[in-house]
Order: sequence, then structure tokens, then C-alpha cells
Amino acid sequence: MEYNFDKVINRKGTNSVKWEFMNDMFGTNDLLPLWVADMDFECPKPVIEAIQKRATHGIFGYSSNDYEEYYISIMNWMKKRYNWEIEKDWIVHTPGVVPALAICVQTFTNPGDQVIIQRPVYYPFTRVIVNNGRIISNNSLKYENNKYSIDYEDLERRAKDSTTKLMILCSPHNPVGRVWTKDELTKIGEICLRNNVILVSDEIHGDLVHSGNKHIPFTSISKDFEKNTIVCTALSKTFNLAGLNTSSIIIANEELRANFKKTSEDRNASPKPNPFGIVATQAAYNHGEEWLEQVIEYIEDNMSYIDEFLKDKLTKVKMIKSEGTYLAWLDFSDLGLSKDELWDIIVKKAKVGLDDGSIFGEEGIGFQRINVGCPRSILEECMNRIEKVLKE
Ligand SMILES: Cc1ncc(COP(=O)(O)O)c(C=O)c1O
Repeated sequence: MEYNFDKVINRKGTNSVKWEFMNDMFGTNDLLPLWVADMDFECPKPVIEAIQKRATHGIFGYSSNDYEEYYISIMNWMKKRYNWEIEKDWIVHTPGVVPALAICVQTFTNPGDQVIIQRPVYYPFTRVIVNNGRIISNNSLKYENNKYSIDYEDLERRAKDSTTKLMILCSPHNPVGRVWTKDELTKIGEICLRNNVILVSDEIHGDLVHSGNKHIPFTSISKDFEKNTIVCTALSKTFNLAGLNTSSIIIANEELRANFKKTSEDRNASPKPNPFGIVATQAAYNHGEEWLEQVIEYIEDNMSYIDEFLKDKLTKVKMIKSEGTYLAWLDFSDLGLSKDELWDIIVKKAKVGLDDGSIFGEEGIGFQRINVGCPRSILEECMNRIEKVLKE
């Protein structure tokens, strides 16, 4: 079937963080919101139907995903999309990827140990490290000629430090939109292996890759990487189901998996999956691909729209070429504005809610992240508002 992503759906009255709870972030609820990473699109029809069917039953007691068809839906998806053969036992449920990152930090490091991240990066990476009493080791991404890349020398130096125990990789990368190539991933993996650093690959955006790019699950690269890697996957970004709190963490190494599960059970009370997350997972992985192909095309068109808009009307603002995700990363630094001046323009004058780049680390100062997972008319309104204020 053909989905209509131009349709504007009123999300007010649904407890939407993006549309109704902006106040904490922006100090007002009166903004056009293109910030937090969920989309303003209905999810695939087979998923809606599966949830409706389950809801009709009327009893929502403790539920389990521990049955064959559930695992098979995930295994088939990975095989079909990535030619990645995973085993049923490797799949561990968590109520989200961020909880899984916290479990990794708690399990594979001790207080005072260092954990490598690559800023500017999804800001909860910092939170799960610092709030657990561990130390950030920041292998800043290199930004040259409007493109981001990895500083391997710095990465090796950081990995060599005897107190560095873990690296959290964002693959594809939020917010800079890079889809790392096999060569880049291989170099990272070898550095981690050489220095006994366990790698956690957050692949939550892995299914949302734009044409001409290829997402490679880290573990699929080699048997050696398989032993040293925890891959975090979820259907939350892929099928716009973030509120269902259902993720699949894929851990091939038996010892790492046993330790991960132990922390999850002992310290985090390992909540059972919710009944809607279970049926949604099966429906989305078994029947959601057609929707996904269409949504990616729509996102790519939205990305091109911004790029052309900027080239045409706001030449000092540059868009970083996006290879994946529905998050566009815009460079406002040529305007020479301070962080506060930029905030004033975007939030107070244009009245749009974007993620200010500084929340991803100081490397993000002068940037804004726009969530383009919305109908084109909303994106147009956002860009027009920004243009109007900047021209004034
Ligand atoms: C890289 C990355 N990891 C994790 C998450 C959130 O994961 P969850 O909601 O499953 O905790 C996001 C959401 O934006 C993200 O961008």
C-alpha cells in the first residue's frame, strides 16, 4: 500500500514529549517542534492492526517474548536487510537502548574507568557514563570541508590508556548523520581489540540509511569483532515506535551476554517486555518493510528540500550531507553568532524547537539539529520562520 506522509496528524492530547512537553527544554510550549527523535508519521498499518488486536483482548498482564516466532522475526530481519546471521540466544530484551548503554557501563567498567565516545554525539551517552561515576574520554570527530571523520591516532591513544575499558560508538551517527563505512568500522574495531576495549555499537538508526550508503552491523564484520561487541538495535526509530520501550540487544559472546544479563536482572530489575512491544516487534519486522522503504524516500526528499532551501535562500547556513537518520545537522557558525544569540533567533524569534548543537558537546556549538521526520508542510513552515528572522 502507499502511505501518505504529507498527512498532518494532530499529536496534541496524546502526551507527546515532542509536542506537549517542550517546556523543560525550551522554557515554553509555544513552538513548532522539530526536536526529540520521533516522527510525526503513523507507523506501519500491520503494526497498528497488531496492537489493536492485542488491545481488544483487554487484559495486559505480565508478558514474555520468550517464544520462537518472536526471535525468528528479529533474526529474519537481520538476515534479510544485512545478511547478518544471528542466533536466537544472542538476543536480549531491554526496555530501550539507553538502559542497555547504562547496563554496559555498569557491567564492563568500574567507577573511575574511562569510556570513549565521539562528540558531538547523542547526549545521553555522556549521562550514562558520568552518572555511573565513570569518566568520559572524548575522541572528538574531525570536521573538515563540511564532513565528519574519525581521528584514529587520538582514538588509539585513548584506547591505550589502561583505565579505558569501553567505547560507545554511534553507528549511524546522531547527530552528524554519518553512516560509517566498513573500512572505518574495521579500523575502530581493530583499535578496540588491540587495546582490550569492549565496543558497544548503538545501531538504533541502522535501518534508516539513505540511498548510496550501507549500514553494516558491527558484529557482522568478523568473528573477532563478534567476540568483543554488543550491538544495540530497536524498532523504535525504524518504525516510529519509541514509546513502546522495546529493544533487542545482540550479544554473541556468551560471557559478555551472561554478565550483561546479570546486571540487568540484579540492578535494573529487568522489566518484562510490555505486551504491545512484543506484538509490534513481530508485526513490524515481518510486515513493515514496505512502509520503511517509503519513509526513507520521504526523509531523503525532506533532506534535499532543506539543502536546496539553504543554498537558495540562506547561503551562510550549511547542511552536513546526511547519509542516514532523520536528523539533519545544520552549521550556523558562519553567521558569527554566540550560542545565546543563536538560541534567541531560533527559539525566541522563529519559535521553532530544534536541538541546540551544544547539548551534543562543545563541538556542536553553532549547530542545530532538525528532525525531518515530519510532513513537508511542517518542515517548510520551520524553514520559512528561520529565514524570515535571519533576513530581518
Ligand atoms: C543514538 C541513539 N541511541 C538511543 C536513543 C534512544 O533509545 P531508547 O529510546 O531506546 O532508550 C536515541 C534516540 O534518539 C538515539 O538517537
